[in-house]
Amino acid sequence: MSTALQTLVETSDLHTNFYTFEGVVRALNGVSIVVNRGETYGLVGESGCGKSVTVRSLMRIVQPPGRIDSGRIVLFLNERDRSRGIEILQRTETYMQSIRGSDISMIFQEPGAALNPVLSVLDQVGESYRLHRMEQMITETLAGLEGERTAMHRNSPRRAVRRLQAALLKAERRGLQRWAALVGRIDNELYLLEDRQDVEALARKESLNRGRDRARPRSGLASIARRVPLLRRYRRPINATIRRHVVELLRSLGIPNPENVVRRYPHELSGGMQQRIVIAIALACHPTLLIADEPTSNLDVTIQAQIVELIKDLKRTTISSVLFITHDLGLVAEVCDRVTVMYAGDVSETATVRELFRGPLHPYTAGLLASVPKVDQREELSMIPGAVPNLIRPPEGCRFHPRCPKRMEICEIQKPPTVEHSRGHWVACHLYPGRGNA
Ligand SMILES: Nc1ncnc2c1ncn2[C@@H]1O[C@H](COP(=O)(O)OP(=O)(O)OP(=O)(O)O)[C@@H](O)[C@H]1O
Ligand code: SF4
Ligand SMILES: [Mg+2]
Repeated sequence: MSTALQTLVETSDLHTNFYTFEGVVRALNGVSIVVNRGETYGLVGESGCGKSVTVRSLMRIVQPPGRIDSGRIVLFLNERDRSRGIEILQRTETYMQSIRGSDISMIFQEPGAALNPVLSVLDQVGESYRLHRMEQMITETLAGLEGERTAMHRNSPRRAVRRLQAALLKAERRGLQRWAALVGRIDNELYLLEDRQDVEALARKESLNRGRDRARPRSGLASIARRVPLLRRYRRPINATIRRHVVELLRSLGIPNPENVVRRYPHELSGGMQQRIVIAIALACHPTLLIADEPTSNLDVTIQAQIVELIKDLKRTTISSVLFITHDLGLVAEVCDRVTVMYAGDVSETATVRELFRGPLHPYTAGLLASVPKVDQREELSMIPGAVPNLIRPPEGCRFHPRCPKRMEICEIQKPPTVEHSRGHWVACHLYPGRGNA
């Protein structure tokens, strides 16, 4: 669908199912999408068509009874992986934890549900710094302590305390670096073994995986210090550094009085404010890809506009690519470069926003566009008859056929292939027979 050089993440033929008591919900029926570096990519479709499940699969956070049953998800995060990409379905959970939040992060659909009600804003936003940027936090703290130490009187007792704190922090940083280096090495070895299926390779993979989960060498000194109440205080300066970063981040997101807000709990914040906190959590580690799952669906229009402006700004300044999920075609036209339309777990059409709005090919896309009210509209608003099917027993062939005004006999029997109708404009519909698959 696009060249590996510009691709940031690519899914191909992804099947995700939910194994419920009522039956198997076939939520994704072979979804293939590509998000490129530097673009804002939209995913649209009616409720229940599989937008959230697609991005949850992409982050490998589909919860039971859901399961990714087949397909590929390949990430091209940095130059080292560029030639081949990282197949994330083959990777360990520890690896996924290391990239979630730092390389790919997500603004969840429901800010209320995404926030932990018993943790303060500082704890929740600060967690990203602890998990992914701790070394930087320790380095900054150490630099601050050195500065204070030289400013203090030579024999002051506080100087001795600062010196002890600095020694403990250095030990902590060494432990962290050793752990990161070890995990990096194990990960590389696993990566090289990935395609090999011989017995020796399988045993080696298993032992590396076990080692990886155990490999958290800590500095002995810092471990003891953590248990002695008097010495435990050495962690305070790190907490102060994290707090400074969180306050700065909230301020940059336009949250008034952030020094006060960091102490609050989610129930003490308005919906718009909660959404900004969710955005702050997603942005704390400067992700390469930001996934925004209907970030404005529960907000009033003025806050909606502010959040959309904020995401556009961040795209210009901080993040490389945005995957934007929405029902709102107006928003797509405003913020996205390319867009994919999904229907009942299938990808119907992918094109640049301009191309899609100018000449929709798929009857479902055409129906969606025709149902958007226009300012000067006089005639009755058009709508797509029927509703998204139950995905436990989805229609055979093209899943849209029961609602399609242009259906043909073949549509009830055969799933349409995805073809490139014109450059960069892909469609899955029997009206457009052609060669190739996305
Ligand atoms: N935990 C679950 N158990 C069973 N089915 C599920 C579960 N989560 C999602 N599904 C099903 O997967 C399908 C796709 O759901 P998904 O949440 O991706 O829709 P969506 O496009 O994000 O919709 P919306 O716009 O309403 O958020 C739906 O049929 C839904 O019922
Ligand atoms: S494949 Fe057939 S039923 Fe499906 S959208 Fe195209 S014409 Fe309609
Ligand atoms: Mg959703």
